[in-house]
Amino acid sequence: MLNDNLTLLLAIAAGVLCVLGLQGLSHPKTARRGNACAMAGMALAVGLALLHPTMQAYGWVLAGLAAGAAVGIPLARKTPLTSLPQLVAVFHSLVGLAAALVALGMYLQKLAFGLMEPKLAVEMGLGAAIGLITLTGSILAALKLQGVVSGKPWGWWGRHYLNLGLGVGIVLSIGWFVLTFSPIALALIFAMSLILGWTLVAPIGGADMPVVVSMLNSYSGWAAAATGFAVESPLLIMVGALVGVSGAILSYVMCHAMQRSFISVILGGFGNAEDTAASASATPAKAAALAGTEDVAYVLGEAERVIIVPGYGMAVAQAQHAVKALTAQLLARGVEVRFAIHPVAGRMPGHMNVLLAEADIPYDLVEELEDVNPRFTEADVALILGANDVVNPAAQTEKSSPIYGMPVLEAWHAKRVFVVKRSHRPGYAGIENPLFTLPNAALVLGDAKDVVEKIGTALKAG
Ligand code: TAP
Repeated sequence: MLNDNLTLLLAIAAGVLCVLGLQGLSHPKTARRGNACAMAGMALAVGLALLHPTMQAYGWVLAGLAAGAAVGIPLARKTPLTSLPQLVAVFHSLVGLAAALVALGMYLQKLAFGLMEPKLAVEMGLGAAIGLITLTGSILAALKLQGVVSGKPWGWWGRHYLNLGLGVGIVLSIGWFVLTFSPIALALIFAMSLILGWTLVAPIGGADMPVVVSMLNSYSGWAAAATGFAVESPLLIMVGALVGVSGAILSYVMCHAMQRSFISVILGGFGNAEDTAASASATPAKAAALAGTEDVAYVLGEAERVIIVPGYGMAVAQAQHAVKALTAQLLARGVEVRFAIHPVAGRMPGHMNVLLAEADIPYDLVEELEDVNPRFTEADVALILGANDVVNPAAQTEKSSPIYGMPVLEAWHAKRVFVVKRSHRPGYAGIENPLFTLPNAALVLGDAKDVVEKIGTALKAG
């Protein structure tokens, strides 16, 4: 067993490893190292918990670890990258449940020994409330993302009053619990928080779900931090606060990149008349010019500067390795190739970076929106692979567009623009894309992987 000072020192070391993990994850180049740091921090934290002097029930802990691993490992292995947001939501729901169960266990134990005190009741009440809001909110977010529940926002007029009423009810119940330690007050906190988690996420449309998942990530961190106070674990407080703050920052960054109001999203869609994706026009694109893979290969063969814009369709098609092969071909011909990454391309933060890294596409070819936008005017070709909303000029020109104001990749400035997609259907926001009908643009219809492979073959054949 470890003494208190050493435990605290190792807990700080675990916290520092988690901070280094977050820092590493901020750039694709350092992401693997960041992940390794964070995993080491968590392993150290679990080790410390197991060696804690009060730890007795090793059998239960091992059974929990085995059960978790038996479910979690196959689930994580089977889940495709495009379904990662819902998997993460399921994980958050478990963090919320754990926080509420720890609060309940502590309450029963302290009550039995007459050791309940108001400070503890505040921590338990907050931990349980935030944890249970996270639990049901995350379950609903995962069901919406998976398409099991409709992504349409719940439009009932009284939804915000209900949420307000539940929020006030939870605060009052926590006050009652702090004054009396009453089991009824705790039961009310549990019941109202479970309902609020659901009713808070229900009015938010499917298009905003990834932001909701990141916000619930933040909630799960705060629930863990509150529980950390209750069980007097500085490590849990530290790691919980880190998750809470980083999740909140990520939600804010995503809202900014998608031109959504952060406050509106965290208040259950408050102020949104309707969900953007649901309300937006789904009219198919006007007659856009079509091009074949040989045409694209010919133009690429003549080009000096090419910018590739990956989007959600590249992830669906799993075209990243084919894209890597085409990039290698172009580089070998002396063509300057860059990748333009939009912060919300795909369905989760860093989605495109992960795919490109998986295919070992060199990081120095990859550029963020602000850096790459001025380069489009000099580019001979913009090759858009399964991206749509993130290259929609309506975001700059049509005030009535639901994406108006969202920063977009200005691919239309390139001399020639080829858009690879399977049909004339709109992108995630459900709106028409005027880029497709510009005189310098053409659609190349087909699955992104198939099309890119065919372009590569045609380029090789000359
Ligand atoms: P989208 O606007 O969703 O467009 C993807 C395009 O890919 C579609 O037009 C689709 O057209 C095409 N596609 C699908 N499967 C394909 C395949 N196998 N081969 C070729 N093309 C395929 O994607 P985007 O431009 O990446 O924008 C992302 C959207 O998601 C934005 O609206 C963003 O706000 C939203 N969003 C992103 C995030 C994050 S954090 N990334 C979070 C929430 C929401 P076809 O069906 O015709 O093929």
